Amino acid sequence: MKLEITLLWLAIRPALGFLRPPQHHESTAAGRDRWGFQQTPVGLAQQPLGVEIPEIPTIPRGRRALYSEPFPVDDPNGIRVQPVDERLCKSGARQLTGHVNVTQHKSLFFWFHESRRDPKNDPLIIWLNGGPGASSLMGGLTELGPCAINEEGTNTTCNPNSWSNFANIMFVDQPAGVGFSTASNDSYFPFTTQDTATDFSTFIRRLFKHVIPEFASHKVHFMGESFAGVYFPSILVKILDQQQHLKELGLRDPFPKIESLVLADALVDWAANSFGFYRTGCIERPDETGIKGQILNDTACEWISRSISDCERLGSECRISMDGPTCLASFTLCFPIGDPVWDLARAGKRSPYDMRADCPDRDICLSYFENRMTTYLNQPQVLELLGLPNNTVYLGTNYVINDRWSNWGYDTYLPMIDRMSKILEQSDVRVLIYNGNSDWIVNTAGTLEWMNILPWSGNGEFRAKDLKQWEYIDNEGKKQKGGMKKYAKGGEVGVRRY
Ligand SMILES: *[C@@H]1O[C@H](CO)[C@@H](O)[C@H](O)[C@H]1NC(C)=O
Ligand SMILES: *[C@@H]1O[C@H](CO)[C@@H](O)[C@H](O)[C@H]1NC(C)=O
Ligand SMILES: *[C@@H]1O[C@H](CO)[C@@H](O)[C@H](O)[C@H]1NC(C)=O
Ligand SMILES: *[C@@H]1O[C@H](CO)[C@@H](O)[C@H](O)[C@H]1NC(C)=O
Ligand SMILES: *[C@@H]1O[C@H](CO)[C@@H](O)[C@H](O)[C@H]1NC(C)=O
Repeated sequence: MKLEITLLWLAIRPALGFLRPPQHHESTAAGRDRWGFQQTPVGLAQQPLGVEIPEIPTIPRGRRALYSEPFPVDDPNGIRVQPVDERLCKSGARQLTGHVNVTQHKSLFFWFHESRRDPKNDPLIIWLNGGPGASSLMGGLTELGPCAINEEGTNTTCNPNSWSNFANIMFVDQPAGVGFSTASNDSYFPFTTQDTATDFSTFIRRLFKHVIPEFASHKVHFMGESFAGVYFPSILVKILDQQQHLKELGLRDPFPKIESLVLADALVDWAANSFGFYRTGCIERPDETGIKGQILNDTACEWISRSISDCERLGSECRISMDGPTCLASFTLCFPIGDPVWDLARAGKRSPYDMRADCPDRDICLSYFENRMTTYLNQPQVLELLGLPNNTVYLGTNYVINDRWSNWGYDTYLPMIDRMSKILEQSDVRVLIYNGNSDWIVNTAGTLEWMNILPWSGNGEFRAKDLKQWEYIDNEGKKQKGGMKKYAKGGEVGVRRY
């Protein structure tokens, strides 16, 4: 068995974002219609990239971007493929964008970057941001992608630290209606994990059959952050179920081999995450937070401490029943536990995604990133290079979709504990969970908490182990301390350079 779970406390800036909180304490007692909360887009983080970073040492000599070589596509029906180049994204390698329809009425947009190293042999990362409703181009253009949008939102700079140094990466806007993904009209926007997982599974099959068949034999890693902690476990369980059925029927498996599931600062369980607010805000742990001194005052901490037991009582009921209304009730008790920290964000301090940083917009603290994306992607020449109609409007977050998830269905509130257990117990997909120390909205303490209560056969081993120093070798060949880690089963270290 190659089951494995690893926790890293990265000493880098965390990256993500998800639910915007209810605006008032009292509103949390009411039904969710009164909350009127919207979600933040996701993603963010990393130091703003320096402007002058043109060199990419990892590109093999003689390789250059090919502007016109088309990728093979054998089914033009319902699939639109548009190679793009350095004018759009200074990536230093081949790129491909396009749409794949997943039903007659829904198409998902993808942006594919070949690895700068050895695209024919390097693995393939499929990346999702969260929301719900947030575009994965946030990850692609402001986080780990090969190019980064400049501050003015007018052009891109090359990102020398992109994960495309070692892997082929695809960013996918989903569910339909998010980012550049399309639906015939609003009534087709999915707002449940069932529908999104079904659509995404169709996307994966059609993608590897029609768009990038040459990558079907590569190791495929599902990676994402924030609300992707809900999307990806749901998608993976759907794919595993479909594979099981096909096997029973003796039919061919149309999916690539999913090597691993990697979740960054991911929302997996509200109750566990809310417990983490206490450790994050009330216990002085500069090693975990990067901050000297206690963040919240004693009054707030006493209140948080008292509130945790009720949150946890309903939280465990929700985990067992997986009943929507029960889980909503649990969320209603658990989410306000973070209010004292949100109060700091609204006062312009302590960004939820990096508590060492301020929150200048006193709102979602991400407008800096979202603004440059919407400025850049809505330019007529950018839409033209993407091959999209000139009346296309790009939004970093689709708030209609976000609102439906929160108000029409219950899946925003469901914990993914059972799906994670299933993945660990019933598949050979390896799991890596990592968390940025300075993120408080999805905090390291809460992430450790859900991993501790996760029922699976490696639970005892994982829980009993201490965190150990994680070291890595930097670009200059020097050993650096990266954070802390632990793992259970399998024995392989969870951090590898691709
Ligand atoms: C970015 O700048 C380059 C010149 O440095 C130009 O060729 C390209 O068209 C610009 N891209 C966009 C989207 O304006
Ligand atoms: C995608 O669109 C094409 C052309 O309209 C259609 O033939 C095909 O059935 C669609 N695929 C799916 C999965 O709905
Ligand atoms: C959406 O499209 C479907 C099928 O084309 C149509 O039946 C429905 O009335 C449309 N809904 C809205 C809200 O436009
Ligand atoms: C403690 O923090 C809370 C929440 O941030 C704030 O409302 C309150 O005024 C503070 N109390 C004291 C005594 O500073
Ligand atoms: C937008 O595209 C349409 C259809 O291709 C074209 O008729 C129209 O002139 C374009 N508008 C602008 C402002 O370029």
